[in-house]
Amino acid sequence: MRTQLTVDGAVTTLEHDPGTSLVSALRAAGFIGPKRGCESGDCGCCTVWVDGKALQSCLLPAYRAAGATVVTIAGLAATPNASAAPAGTPPLHPAQKAFLDAEGYQCGYCTAGMIMTLAAVERPGDAATALRGNICRCTGWSAILRAERALAAAMPDTAAAAKRTALRTDQGWVGESVPNRHGIDLVTGMPSYTADFPEAELLHIAALRSPHAHARVLRVDDSAARAIDGVVAVYWHEHVQRIPYTTACHPPEPRDPHDTYLLDDVMRFVGQRVAIVVATSKAIARRAAAAVQVEYSVMPSVHDPQRALEPNAPCVHPERDSFQIADPQRNLIGTLEHTRGSIDAGLAAAAVSAELTLRTPRQQHTHLEPHVATAWIAADGILTIRASTQVPYLARRTLARVLERPIESIRVFKPRVGGGFGNKQEVTVEDLCAFAALQLGKPVQWEFDRHEEFTAGNVRHPMNLTVRGGADADGKLTALELEFTADGGAYGNHSLDVLHCGIFEAISVYNCPNKHSLGRSVYTNNVPSGAFRGYGASQTTYAVESLMDELARRLDLDPLEFRRRNLVRPGDALYVGKRQDRDRQIGSYQVDQCIDHVQAAFTDAGELPQHDEDWYHGRGSSVAAIASGLAKIQVSGARLRVEPDGVVLGTATADIGTASDTTLAQIAANALELPFDAIRIETGDTASGPEDSGAWASATAYIAGKAVELAARELGARIAAAGGWSGSWPELLQRATERKVLLEVEVSDFAHDRVSLSFAVIGAQVRVHRRTGRVVLERMVQAIDAGTLLNPRVALGQAEGGSVQSVGMALSEELIIDAVGRVANPTFRDYRVPAVADLPPLETRLFQSPDPDGPFGAKAIGELTTNAVPAAIANAVRDAIGQRIGRLPLTAERVWHTLQAKTGQ
Ligand code: FES
Repeated sequence: MRTQLTVDGAVTTLEHDPGTSLVSALRAAGFIGPKRGCESGDCGCCTVWVDGKALQSCLLPAYRAAGATVVTIAGLAATPNASAAPAGTPPLHPAQKAFLDAEGYQCGYCTAGMIMTLAAVERPGDAATALRGNICRCTGWSAILRAERALAAAMPDTAAAAKRTALRTDQGWVGESVPNRHGIDLVTGMPSYTADFPEAELLHIAALRSPHAHARVLRVDDSAARAIDGVVAVYWHEHVQRIPYTTACHPPEPRDPHDTYLLDDVMRFVGQRVAIVVATSKAIARRAAAAVQVEYSVMPSVHDPQRALEPNAPCVHPERDSFQIADPQRNLIGTLEHTRGSIDAGLAAAAVSAELTLRTPRQQHTHLEPHVATAWIAADGILTIRASTQVPYLARRTLARVLERPIESIRVFKPRVGGGFGNKQEVTVEDLCAFAALQLGKPVQWEFDRHEEFTAGNVRHPMNLTVRGGADADGKLTALELEFTADGGAYGNHSLDVLHCGIFEAISVYNCPNKHSLGRSVYTNNVPSGAFRGYGASQTTYAVESLMDELARRLDLDPLEFRRRNLVRPGDALYVGKRQDRDRQIGSYQVDQCIDHVQAAFTDAGELPQHDEDWYHGRGSSVAAIASGLAKIQVSGARLRVEPDGVVLGTATADIGTASDTTLAQIAANALELPFDAIRIETGDTASGPEDSGAWASATAYIAGKAVELAARELGARIAAAGGWSGSWPELLQRATERKVLLEVEVSDFAHDRVSLSFAVIGAQVRVHRRTGRVVLERMVQAIDAGTLLNPRVALGQAEGGSVQSVGMALSEELIIDAVGRVANPTFRDYRVPAVADLPPLETRLFQSPDPDGPFGAKAIGELTTNAVPAAIANAVRDAIGQRIGRLPLTAERVWHTLQAKTGQ
């Protein structure tokens, strides 16, 4: 079909299949400003103007736009109201300028849609209404609201704008809220993300997915699919090598079960890929995938992790070629147990004790950019994969294994990543995309749709947890026990290391002579669990902090005061069972100040309102800790080189919306005492920097940042040896050549011997409706023990974004699996992530003190609030209604049932 319309001022003809949405037709024609996020009108990423009205262009069939005038983010500045811009920068609409000044973005995938929505509002000022059709998963909304307020008041954030052009301060770049390097690209809709870059003759993949939770594939008939015009190939298990691997990416070699195959003849969850079709368009590939006929032998399935451990439960992985599974016959992926002292003795010595049984939900990452990769053979013969990944180097290693190719013959790089939160620490689409490119010798792209993200992506491990503990009359812990079973789903990716992280980060926070922890990960025929921000500790911290709340109540102590009496402090040994953990340390420590801050915030606010005929009121608190990555395991490196126009910093770590491209350049500029703009950065590419473990475990600043600092200090010494930095770059290079000084430095395989802990203290206030059970989060006060802030605005964004994801875990987010293993709510409409109207203004205070080992004293922040928030909210609801609900999320329905039971109605 051909549809003629005007796009961004130019008369354009879109060529598309019948049924193609406007967003898909626009993007295929090169108008890549609107993003595909849900294709169901729920996320707002694809918002454009059609004849002056903001519309979600995924909902409009392209043919219906015939004759219309369409404006995308790239054309917004040419509409009336566009403002003049400083020389050398593009003109901007006031909404673009407001977002740029307030940095209303992290990954930026939602930004074009946000701007197009707000720019169309005639009377700005009601963000909750204006943005009800938009989702942001990164920012925690505060930065977007700052932009919206600036736009409504027609008053740009002039302080921020000034900083955008600021020169180095006397203190250097570290500690400055230096603007994000990619800001202009994001607000003007420049090509940034994997799917924004077209390749000539690009082919597309679509998958046929299993309708059964457990079944063997007996026969595949692809004749009808192959008969469809535009279909190039169909592959299923008979076409691939059977090589066991794990999709999880860990250094140095993953200990995870190797239980996954490119394409398998056994289906272990509803949504597993059975076959893929490669075709000339995505629509054709999808249509052909639906035409592939498969005969299955359906087998019994198991969906409950406790049931999966029973002797007669269906076995999810009986195959002999998978390995590194603890006990496949019992569906046991792995266990981890630590004991110190005696729980029985500790409970016997206690003045008070408590035990709780709790359950956490199956939470989905819902990064707005779906999984996507493009693979092709470059002119030099290198298999090249552009992917939305957190782990270019580790993904390359997995691809080398599964495709049986030398690692040097593969290049993986990422452009901008539209959110990951752990779900892109995984090889998800890259493997078959690369396989197809190798088979066909043409560029191939695979982009998930939102339904696939919900049904075939990964989720946070749902856990069943039991915590037990006791304390003496002085408020000192005498016993602390944590046991849990994690539902790993159909594959074991990340299910071992979530046990480590879940146990250590929850149970090492408190001194106690008697500790016991036991974690188990279990296979089921559910959608696989994987890495998700918090990595097990969000669930276990919720359990331990709920227990601390109960013990404090029994002691009639302020819960934060009780925690203060038991928290680890500098000099305390961090125990894992009997063993002292020498890989982790308490470097800087501002936890007392954090507790003081949260206590004061609520003391100053006075007593809670009295319960009335409509509402209960309550407050709760929690503490969480995270390590700044993994000592001796996570590695990074940096390459610095003086060129005629400045210094090039090469590092293979990945900016996944965390602004690490900016903060790493700040570190380099600071160490070199150079202007910030003198540093050009090349990241996220196996071709541009030394080996790097990728962006996960909140480790980028601490580990990659330290590698950059070390490299920069060495380069600084060499610049000094070449006569120092004065005059021009070519003159410096000239002097260096004369003095035989090499102005290129590489630090490789850098790892810390020990990593520092960071802490967060959270206070939450809620009200709970007596008759509907609705929980309203009224106030959230967050205090972070943050080390040195490399970039305060970035740190604040990380803290707030992490919080809001866990507000979702606490109050609304749960992927529901029905009795036969299907995801029952695979849409944003039915899976509710926090919207702007669900949140109070976040009150976040970052307490600084330099860490001894982090770059310029920095340490981890990214997952702290994620881990702390669920317990704070759950404890507040407990305070409000006088009863603990042992299952998250605390939906209105769940709370209502509890209230009904309580009142006997
Ligand atoms: Fe909004 Fe990432 S910045 S989704």
